[in-house]
Amino acid sequence: MDKTAHIARLVLPGHTNRHGSLFGGIALSLMDEAAGIVSTRVARGPVVTAHIASVDFKAPIWQGEAVLITAALVSAGTSSMKIRVETWGECLEKGTKRHCTTADFVMVAIDQHGRPRPIPKEARADIEAARAAGGSADGDEGA
Ligand SMILES: CC(C)(COP(=O)(O)OP(=O)(O)OC[C@H]1O[C@@H](n2cnc3c(N)ncnc32)[C@H](O)[C@@H]1OP(=O)(O)O)[C@@H](O)C(=O)NCCC(=O)NCCS
Repeated sequence: MDKTAHIARLVLPGHTNRHGSLFGGIALSLMDEAAGIVSTRVARGPVVTAHIASVDFKAPIWQGEAVLITAALVSAGTSSMKIRVETWGECLEKGTKRHCTTADFVMVAIDQHGRPRPIPKEARADIEAARAAGGSADGDEGA
């Protein structure tokens, strides 16, 4: 099972603040989307965002640059998953990349009533196997 997601977008005028850099809310939306892709794949069903750890935007991403988002499963609890999301800005002409932010998202699998739902056994076995092999899950106790 792939426990990662990658999103790339060109920063266009409609995505920027008055200073010409990527609007923070759009960056957060893309990060949430990437975390949602990973966690929905792992949970094999609907998820919600329960928590976003503190987010520090360390560098602007300018109009005309690409914003790159990577997301990866760090750990899983009964119904929750911790997804680490990184955001980078890429100057396409120069081929240089700048780290913008890293944040941990806690996503929770839910049932049809919106209540927490256990992650399927098969997914859990796969996560345990990846952890034993030194893969992406880092051995945390739950998400
Ligand atoms: C997320 C939600 C389903 C959790 O419901 P709840 O009744 O509080 O659930 P529980 O207390 O039983 O916790 C369920 C799991 O979520 C985790 N969790 C819940 N809130 C959390 C938080 N704020 N931070 C970290 N983990 C959290 C718990 O640790 C638990 O993990 P585990 O099952 O792996 O042990 C509920 O709070 C909710 O619906 N929130 C709104 C979500 C939303 O609208 N998001 C924005 C749009 S997607």
